[in-house]
Amino acid sequence: KQRVLSGVQPTGNLHLGNYLGAIRNWVAGQSEYENFFCVVDLHAITVPHNPAILAANSYKIAALYLACGIDLEHANIFIQSHVSAHSELTWLLNCITPLNWLQGMIQFKEKAIKQGENVGVGLLDYPVLMAADILLYDADKVPVGEDQKQHLELTRDLVIRLNDRFGDPENPILKLPEPLIRQDGARVMSLTDGTSKMSKSDPSEMSRINLLDPPDTIVKKIKRCKTDPVRGLEFDNSERPECHNLLTLYMLLSGKTKEAVAAECQDMGWGQFKPLLTETTVAALEPIQEKYKEIVDDRPYLESVLHQGREKAETIAMATLTRVKTAMGFSTPV
Ligand code: AQP
Repeated sequence: KQRVLSGVQPTGNLHLGNYLGAIRNWVAGQSEYENFFCVVDLHAITVPHNPAILAANSYKIAALYLACGIDLEHANIFIQSHVSAHSELTWLLNCITPLNWLQGMIQFKEKAIKQGENVGVGLLDYPVLMAADILLYDADKVPVGEDQKQHLELTRDLVIRLNDRFGDPENPILKLPEPLIRQDGARVMSLTDGTSKMSKSDPSEMSRINLLDPPDTIVKKIKRCKTDPVRGLEFDNSERPECHNLLTLYMLLSGKTKEAVAAECQDMGWGQFKPLLTETTVAALEPIQEKYKEIVDDRPYLESVLHQGREKAETIAMATLTRVKTAMGFSTPV
């Protein structure tokens, strides 16, 4: 079986963008692959973080993976910082990464502006850590949202560079991974601005629907979300980004086809559509929230899941790390 690796940062609440752009696709494809899903806590400290809640947040994200339907028969769930090879491979890759590749990354530029004077080296290095996450597992496929595409390209460039410098063409050191970006849901937009992506770091809670939002919060957020004065709803009109985004959410959460949604909503006004979207969202999130409540406080269970995941991950990661170190000329530990 081909191998899949992906992860989410334990920063804040997971929202519909994280779910529809990433986790839902992990679940949909899981039986076809051997899967590694990590909680990328080392990435979470690339911006200022609160140490008092980091560990608890990581456990919550692991519980959410399970609540969303990740099946341990097909997948390993682990916490990135529990496998030290992630940090070690990052250093090795750092030493072959041109600085200007990192300075040109869109996410770095966007986040650096928000950080002002406090931009840490870790934020610049984020894509190299992400490359290490993927490459340690010889991942074939990396299911992510559209925003991560550029980082995946950098990962591929690093593989080519490392293999060229230290490998033998017949026997490459690292495997070239492919991004797996589903067209629908790859870029879920903010509820308050259809031209910017739904994001955890948006200061306005009204801009996103979190997976754990109770029904009355969802009602409120959809009631107040940005729309337009046009009657009749349609996909793909670039002058109506909010309309496209809200119809897409309805399509993905209801499981209906694009054609069916377009036909159903073509004569609707917002007053009719908003309650429909609300009801569909609440119904889609209810089973996830139920399952989450059942497991989030079951510490022994979560520990056993994360322990098993770590053991499996560590074995593979250490073998890759040794392969890279040997190729780069390091001596064997004595
Ligand atoms: N709006 C989105 N639409 C589709 N996919 C998205 N993803 C994130 N936002 C959207 C995908 O979710 C996965 C995990 O993301 P992450 O937690 O690693 O980091 P992120 O991209 O930093 O998440 P946010 O919410 O966008 O955080 P900030 O505000 O910090 O930038 C990834 O696969 C990502 O593509």
